Amino acid sequence: MTATATSPVLANDFYAPLKARAAEIEAQYRNLTPVSAGLFEQSKGLFPGGFTRDAVIRKPYSPFIAKGEGPILTDSDGRAIVDFWFNASSLPLGHADPRVVAAVNRQLGLGTAYFAPTETELALARILCERLPSAEQARFANSGSEAVMIALRLARGFTGRDLVVKCEGSYHGAYDDVQWSVAPAKDKFGAPDSPVPVPDSAGLPESSDRILVLPYNNPEILRREVRARADRVAALIIEPLANRMGLIPPTPEFLAAARELSDEIGAVLIFDEVIAFRLGYHGAQGFVGMTPDVTTLGKVIGGGFPVGAVVGKTDVMAASDASRRERVTHAGTFNANPVTMSAGRATMEALTPDVYDSINAKGAKMRAGLEAATAGVPLTITGAGSFFKINATAEDITDYRTAVTVDGAWEEVLSLGLFNAGFMLTPHLHGCCSAVTTDEQIDGFLAAFTDLITP
Ligand SMILES: Cc1ncc(COP(=O)(O)O)c(C=O)c1O
Repeated sequence: MTATATSPVLANDFYAPLKARAAEIEAQYRNLTPVSAGLFEQSKGLFPGGFTRDAVIRKPYSPFIAKGEGPILTDSDGRAIVDFWFNASSLPLGHADPRVVAAVNRQLGLGTAYFAPTETELALARILCERLPSAEQARFANSGSEAVMIALRLARGFTGRDLVVKCEGSYHGAYDDVQWSVAPAKDKFGAPDSPVPVPDSAGLPESSDRILVLPYNNPEILRREVRARADRVAALIIEPLANRMGLIPPTPEFLAAARELSDEIGAVLIFDEVIAFRLGYHGAQGFVGMTPDVTTLGKVIGGGFPVGAVVGKTDVMAASDASRRERVTHAGTFNANPVTMSAGRATMEALTPDVYDSINAKGAKMRAGLEAATAGVPLTITGAGSFFKINATAEDITDYRTAVTVDGAWEEVLSLGLFNAGFMLTPHLHGCCSAVTTDEQIDGFLAAFTDLITP
């Protein structure tokens, strides 16, 4: 449901009944997952707070997974769970796709890493450059965070400037320079038209000279603030699908302003497509019809293995050309390792335009089903392509300030209830479909969802 300030059901009346069931739903979860509970006890001694990866932090603990096959995860308690998040959307073909497994097995027998390039990295780079309209050259890394780190270094090296513009509410990975205002608290984030940069972690260096935080989807403020610092801005980094704000796309006006400003002041426009490349055969840039100078990639291009890549126009990418004296350096023992490259190549070759269409049709079916199930109640359904997100708010979500109106506690209870019913989303109800997702699984999910939200 979108923009329903006039929702016939009042928000509190709607959210309260499920939240009142939080203890019962948690007890049911604990009952279903005693082995995971025991493993989490062991984790607490080995990992701070019991987790070694922030993204999978869940209350009261995460299920441990023993196996993934197609759309199904088997947890350590032996329960089959329908996966609707596929390791943060990184497995568009599902778990253990036979083509990917065969490619990786072939490579394992040939060795896993050499101190030299391989033909497989050429093949994967060629696929990326053929499919992404703005990609002429590539550099591989081991994560999306590394890709962002290198993209910003390239932009700074290319322009000789320091300042990077990022949007409030955008997540661009774990690199210090972009861990600002990812999920800032309401009492710290300042006025809507001039957001205060808020660190997303303890231990970050001072940001003020290096990062400017601006609202997503506000072309006027973007123009005003960027023009005021025209000679200092090295890059604008933008998500063409804003994950943490509810998997929402940018408006065409916002993207057009970003493109026009970058050209006007000589800054590098970076699209962070680490998650958004899943939107279509030509990436999010094909989907939104606008090209950046540089694109950061990750997730799907590694076929389930750790990966990152920066691709872009030759003039910017050449800043890392080894024949230059003053150059942007970029090292990494496992960059373009042949196992990741084989898995990535097999995945990208399997992702034909028809497969993208089919995955996106499943996403559209899910969003339509959710829209129908939430008519008249204060829930907003967002997402695009194969992605969907259930938001516990009646607001039309267009940026961080509207995204942050959600009732996060309600979302977490619903997510746990859905897990009890056999479905895995994020704790805040981000989801996606993959090629292996069936219509029956979508229908089953919609039935479980409707059951949980009906008092
Ligand atoms: C838009 C975006 N950029 C960067 C990253 C970081 O990628 P990684 O987790 O591979 O470091 C993510 C991860 O979710 C992301 O969604």
